Amino acid sequence: MVGSVFLIVVDILMIMVPRITGIVIDTLRAAPDDLSTVRVLLLGIVGIAFGLFFSRFFWRVFIMGAARRFEYFSKEVLFDKLLSLPASYYDRTRVGDLMARFTNDVNAMRMAFGPAIVMMVDGFFLTAITIIAMGSFVNWNLTLLSVAPLPALAFVATFFGRMIHRRFRAVQEAFSDVTDTAEESIAGVRVVKSYGIEQLRSKTMEGISNNYVAKNIALVKIWGMFFPMIQGLAMLGVVIAIFFGGRMVILGSITLGEFVTFVGYLGMLIWPIAAFGWVLNIIQRGRASYRRLKEIIEEKSDVKTVNPVKIRKLRGHIVFDNLTFTYPTARESSLMDVSLEIKAGSKVALVGTTGSGKSTIGKLLGRVYPVLEGKIMIDGIDITRLDPEIIRDNIAYVPQETFLFSDTVRNNIAFAVDGVDKEKVEKYAKIAAVHNDIKGFSKGYDTIVGERGVTLSGGQKQRIAIARALMKEAPVIFLDDCLSAVDTETEARILKSLQNSGIERTIIVISHRLKAVVDSDVIYVMHDGKVLEQGTHSELLENYGLYRKMYERQMLEEKLEGE
Ligand SMILES: Nc1ncnc2c1ncn2[C@@H]1O[C@H](COP(=O)(O)OP(=O)(O)O)[C@@H](O)[C@H]1O
Ligand SMILES: [Mg+2]
Repeated sequence: MVGSVFLIVVDILMIMVPRITGIVIDTLRAAPDDLSTVRVLLLGIVGIAFGLFFSRFFWRVFIMGAARRFEYFSKEVLFDKLLSLPASYYDRTRVGDLMARFTNDVNAMRMAFGPAIVMMVDGFFLTAITIIAMGSFVNWNLTLLSVAPLPALAFVATFFGRMIHRRFRAVQEAFSDVTDTAEESIAGVRVVKSYGIEQLRSKTMEGISNNYVAKNIALVKIWGMFFPMIQGLAMLGVVIAIFFGGRMVILGSITLGEFVTFVGYLGMLIWPIAAFGWVLNIIQRGRASYRRLKEIIEEKSDVKTVNPVKIRKLRGHIVFDNLTFTYPTARESSLMDVSLEIKAGSKVALVGTTGSGKSTIGKLLGRVYPVLEGKIMIDGIDITRLDPEIIRDNIAYVPQETFLFSDTVRNNIAFAVDGVDKEKVEKYAKIAAVHNDIKGFSKGYDTIVGERGVTLSGGQKQRIAIARALMKEAPVIFLDDCLSAVDTETEARILKSLQNSGIERTIIVISHRLKAVVDSDVIYVMHDGKVLEQGTHSELLENYGLYRKMYERQMLEEKLEGE
């Protein structure tokens, strides 16, 4: 609001300049003895120049500031939304697209809200008062004749604006190709060297660089045409003004000063009108971006809680009842008629071929995806009646791929709980058999890990992830093949200490190493989305089925490795 006031001040000040110039000229033509009025008028122009400087400065600060605040706000809203979107959303959306929306679309909206609206209001207001000033200070007929070519200006500017934008995008894309290729080549320089393909990389880079140059030249050509085109059209108006206006001066219907004022005003009209076409483009783009962002904001979670049950602590008795599940983006079902029971406090293993649906069981249990056919019950309650938050408080899920943040080891372990309890962190690091590793780091628990820190081995990362899950002290812990990078003995030891850590806990382990889970209360053997066999280790061996085959093969492999 304050910004708009400054804007109007700028416009009014601008209107005064040609008028004063005209008066000065007429005064001089009268060849007065005393030039003091002229001096005052010239001082007035200098004063106006100062006024313009300050007003422009302030409206920029106010209006651009507001636009930036808007950008910050919308990025924050969008970021929160992205964190709360369901997993199925990320299955069908590319991360690159999301990043583009995050930056480009918010940027386009900021431009439309800030500068574009300002230019639009400013353009309208300035054009209107300039035309009124031309008509009332000088002559209405002359005004109408001279501004006739100007709408063509707006049209040309719109057209060029679109072309320039398109070519500008092409330049940006070409540029990101260049950086991507450079980055890849440098990051993968060892691979490049070991294969001796420096020449090839260099060729690739050359092609991409040439494309970048070509795209830039295309842009420059359009820019080069834009300004002369606008000026040419504007000249047409000036020619009309001089032709008719000059005659009027000679005939004495307007003074020379009035004529100069008139041409000054005409010059002032060019850029607001050209900008008008330009602004139209920006606003259009802003609206398209707004629609895309709105889609994200209005995205609904597909995991719904109906008739919710208020309960804080679950015991961890889990039943899957004829569960069939198909991923929203998949055509075939990943789970078919799966029924299983996991008693509270027991240790259950899920084993089977890759892609057989083991991880899917974990995701459905954690309410990452919705249960549509069949049922999952925890402690006799249908999980569709349990808030996802309750489930996540009670089931500590350790995913197959671990992710560590660029932070200290301690904060990475404690990140899911409020406040960092040092003793607890160490206690669970010990159970996860990673305490000694951490002690060996240069700064112990204060060592920074992740992207910008020390590089950990796959096994160390996995064990830190387990310690992180243990921090939640949940009654159910679900380990999704998260010990694959740890040797068999350590894996077995970790699983043992989980069982003997004092609290009664339901343990569900997915593992492809059967030896680590032989002592489970029940082992479910999965294949192609179905439970093929179930029972204890010895029962399954007697069954002479898939489990026995897998077990014998693993034993054989181990023997061969040992020799
Ligand atoms: N997010 C997903 N979208 C579509 N299909 C998926 C998704 N995740 C897994 N699948 C498919 O579901 C099946 C079971 O996968 P998963 O449960 O991860 O197997 P496992 O953990 O036993 O190796 C596989 O065929 C896999 O391709
Ligand atoms: Mg898996």
